[in-house]
Amino acid sequence: MPTKAVVYNDAHDVSIEEIDDPTLTSPNDAILEVTQTAICGSDLHMYEGRAGAEPGMAFGHEIMGEISEVGDGVEQLSPGDRVVLPFNVACGYCRNCEEGHYGYCENVESATPGGAYGYVKMGSYQGGQAERVRVPYADHNALKIPDDPANGTPEDFIMLADVFPTGWHGVELADLQPGESVAIFGAGPVGLMAAYSAHLRGASEIYVVDRVESRLELADEHCNATAINFEERDAVEAITDAHGGGVDKGVDAVGYQAIEDGRDGESAYDESRENPSIILNQLIDAVRPTGKIGIVGLYVSDDPDQPDHIGEQGLLRVHLGTAFEKGLRFGMGQCPVKRYNRRLRDMIIAGEAEPGFVISHTTSLDEAPEMYERFDEREEGVTKVLLEP
Ligand SMILES: NC(=O)c1ccc[n+]([C@@H]2O[C@H](COP(=O)([O-])OP(=O)(O)OC[C@H]3O[C@@H](n4cnc5c(N)ncnc54)[C@H](O)[C@@H]3O)[C@@H](O)[C@H]2O)c1
Ligand SMILES: [Zn+2]
Ligand SMILES: [Zn+2]
Repeated sequence: MPTKAVVYNDAHDVSIEEIDDPTLTSPNDAILEVTQTAICGSDLHMYEGRAGAEPGMAFGHEIMGEISEVGDGVEQLSPGDRVVLPFNVACGYCRNCEEGHYGYCENVESATPGGAYGYVKMGSYQGGQAERVRVPYADHNALKIPDDPANGTPEDFIMLADVFPTGWHGVELADLQPGESVAIFGAGPVGLMAAYSAHLRGASEIYVVDRVESRLELADEHCNATAINFEERDAVEAITDAHGGGVDKGVDAVGYQAIEDGRDGESAYDESRENPSIILNQLIDAVRPTGKIGIVGLYVSDDPDQPDHIGEQGLLRVHLGTAFEKGLRFGMGQCPVKRYNRRLRDMIIAGEAEPGFVISHTTSLDEAPEMYERFDEREEGVTKVLLEP
């Protein structure tokens, strides 16, 4: 029996295709019937043809569902269990996993350090925007969701696969303390979850920068944040005017595909306006001396689509001297979802967190190609798309 999945064909072209049904390949594997799976900003780098995805690849790393089959070596899971998967595929027992760096597992066969479902260079694990998916090292990777929690909806629990822990990781890398001020660049799902995490952790002032009004409104409404539209005013000026001397902490939730503030009424999400260094330079200017900056937006080691040789090599024009003079500290990289997902799940169950507010659309798997296109446009009102296979 084949499995229906979101399959990459070419830049800006995905379709629903039948792929081989996943099977148990190791005693540690389980098979998951996917009930919910979300589209991520990370999928868009591949969707836009920017990440070297091969045609035929199934996308999707934000996955939740019901276990249908387990290998002989799986001890903690049984068919029927409801689980959410961290986007990282990790063994749990290599040196990096032992130290909690689940995004950099040494036992996954991938071109870059660390594994993920349905992602280029991160191992050949089938993506989970599909009816079924194989879960490697299942005991380690699956997090159980109670059958009938008093609090928490599927929209809340699917956020545990990536964006809620990743937003949390952004503020954790910035070492955000209660009462501190923080500037968050990007109000996509990751930036919104960083702002929400800052709110939950007791930040005194939260500034969120983006250009998509509907996303900024969510930051205002759910995270008690001051929204700054960078097409309307200079973001750094707005932050330093409001908070003289700069904010204590900063989070980059945009990454290398950041666009310049045109302030020219341009509405389309236009690659020609990209400037991969802009967010880091703005954070260096907006954060006070000795502040800390968490970088969860994606940066790449090479970027063939950049117009010049420096950019092609993945090099950035960053004001390191200013950062040095200010004694700024940086943390970055892939979120180790498993470091946080159990406690964040329990906050949802306790009614202390409702991260599902970022979901703007819930559709069937068949509608994924259309939703990819609309999410990629950063269309007003399209914040996060949930697919229900
Ligand atoms: N580190 C990790 O583990 C991890 C996990 C998930 C996603 N990510 C990365 O995080 C980033 C954000 O993901 P997302 O799902 O929120 O995607 P997204 O693309 O929906 O969000 C990016 C947002 O940045 C905004 N933006 C563009 N230029 C800007 C600028 N100059 N100033 C301020 N905002 C600007 C866009 O309008 C958009 O709303 C992506 O790079 C993604 O790959 C990293
Ligand atoms: Zn994701
Ligand atoms: Zn490992």
